[in-house]
Order: sequence, then C-alpha cells, then structure tokens
Amino acid sequence: MQGCRTIESQSSGDWMTEIHVVQRDNRHLYETYFDPYFRLRHDIYVKQRKWMALDRPDGREIDQFDTEDAVYLFCLDRGQLIGAMRALPTVSPTLMSDIFPYLAVRGPIQRPDVYELSRVFVIPERRGEHAGPRIEMLLLTAIMEYGISIGLTVFSIVLESWWLPRFERCGWRAHPLGLPQMIDGMSVLAVLVDCDETTWRSLCSQTGRTSPTLTWHGLTDVNRQILPDISLLRSPTVQPTR
Ligand code: COA
Repeated sequence: MQGCRTIESQSSGDWMTEIHVVQRDNRHLYETYFDPYFRLRHDIYVKQRKWMALDRPDGREIDQFDTEDAVYLFCLDRGQLIGAMRALPTVSPTLMSDIFPYLAVRGPIQRPDVYELSRVFVIPERRGEHAGPRIEMLLLTAIMEYGISIGLTVFSIVLESWWLPRFERCGWRAHPLGLPQMIDGMSVLAVLVDCDETTWRSLCSQTGRTSPTLTWHGLTDVNRQILPDISLLRSPTVQPTR
C-alpha cells in the first residue's frame, strides 16, 4: 500500500484516521487508490466472503455500478486505505433496481434524495474495537454526514439480516421494504434508513467526534448544506456496544 500514500493528511494532533469523499469531480486526486481498492474488494468479497459471482480473473472486484456516478468514502489512516463504502444515486441503476427488485414489495426506490449504500468493508486487521472508535462506526457516521450535507433524506440498502441489530445498536433506523429472502445461503432484505441530523449527532457522540468527519479534497464546487454545530458534544466515557 506504499503507493497509496499520495493524499496529505489534514489531521491535527493524533487523529490520523480520515474519511475522504471521492466522486467524479475529484477522482483524479485518488487515482492511485483505486487499484488497491478494487483488489481489496476482491480479497474481501470473493476470497474471504466467497461471493463467487463477483469473481474476476484480474483480481479486481468491479461491477456495473462502479460508474462515474458512484460516490466512495475512503477511510485512510496515514495514507493507507483501511475501509470504504460506496453510495449510488438511485436515479441511476442500483443493486436494488437491477439485481434485487423483488426484495422491495412496492418496487425499487428511485428518488433524487435517496442514495443506495453498498460494499462497506474494513480491512481485517482494523475490525473490532481494539483500535479506538470502530472504523465501521466511523464509516456509518461519515455516510450520514455525507447524506445530510448534500440533502439526502434516506439511504436504501440491500443487506444481510445480521446488519439489523447492529444498526439498531448504533441508532440507525432501518425500515424493511419487504421480507427477507434466502439468496445463496444468506438471509437478505431491502431497507430504507433515515438520513437525518439526529442520527448523525448521536453517532458523533458515540464515536467521540466534536467536528465533522469528512474530508472533501477538490470538491469546493459541491453544493453543501451547513451542518449543525456539534462542537459541544461530549465524548463518551465508554465505547458503544456492538
Ligand atoms: N455474517 C454475520 N455476522 C457478521 C458478519 C457476517 N459475514 N460480519 C460481521 N458480522 C457481525 C458479527 O456479529 C461480528 O461479531 P463476531 O466477531 O462475534 O462474529 C460483528 O459483526 C463484528 O464484526 P467484525 O468483523 O469483528 O468487526 P467490525 O464491526 O469492525 O466490521 C464489517 C464489520 C462488516 C465492516 C467487517 O466485518 C467487514 O469488513 N466484513 C467484510 C465485508 C462485508 O461483509 N461487508 C458487508 C456486506 S457489503
């Protein structure tokens, strides 16, 4: 991952984990991260999780939704990619519209104020709670900040059922769009998750953040809403439950 150390850290003090918004307008700044990113996805989803439908001979997991419309959150620690998440505008094709439409009883969600989340992962050595706030929790906090920054109201997700209690524990409110179905041995369902300031504040409090999480390198032209002031939030004395 040495070749990935191209983005200068914006952090001060000892907070070295940053979550960067990467999309069409600033993708050129992160070009060296994409090959390791797609290789990590292959390692995690194909080799580890055995989602063999995603296998590709070149060792990169790239699908039809990795288009110019995709937005990525890259979690970088001292320049190393340690986790990521993908968000797709639902006015473009999504997993729910093109692959799993039968999971939403009233049909797939296609609205400008809704993005679909997918491909969330943390590299194996940074999972669990041992390294401070869990990276996965930081990603969940960051995507909520992204959503309220650009005026989203809801996220849609096709997910495995085991996420639901995790969401509930961290304060994400998920609303099923249909019943879970067994797909390749996994219980899978479609949900909507509320994207709002209350959830973001709660996540910031749980992860000890008193300032926004996201880095928007090269995205000065993006029209962003002003975030609520969270500077007075107190850091938790204990880690959130898993
Ligand atoms: N099936 C069922 N439960 C799972 C799971 C899976 N594939 N992956 C994680 N969990 C649940 C378990 O309850 C696990 O507890 P356990 O350690 O007692 O088994 C708990 O999540 C904690 O997961 P862990 O991986 O230790 O740490 P984390 O919370 O920091 O990270 C993920 C969670 C999902 C980000 C991480 O496991 C990951 O990157 N997984 C691979 C990518 C993936 O499957 N993403 C989801 C689909 S896009």
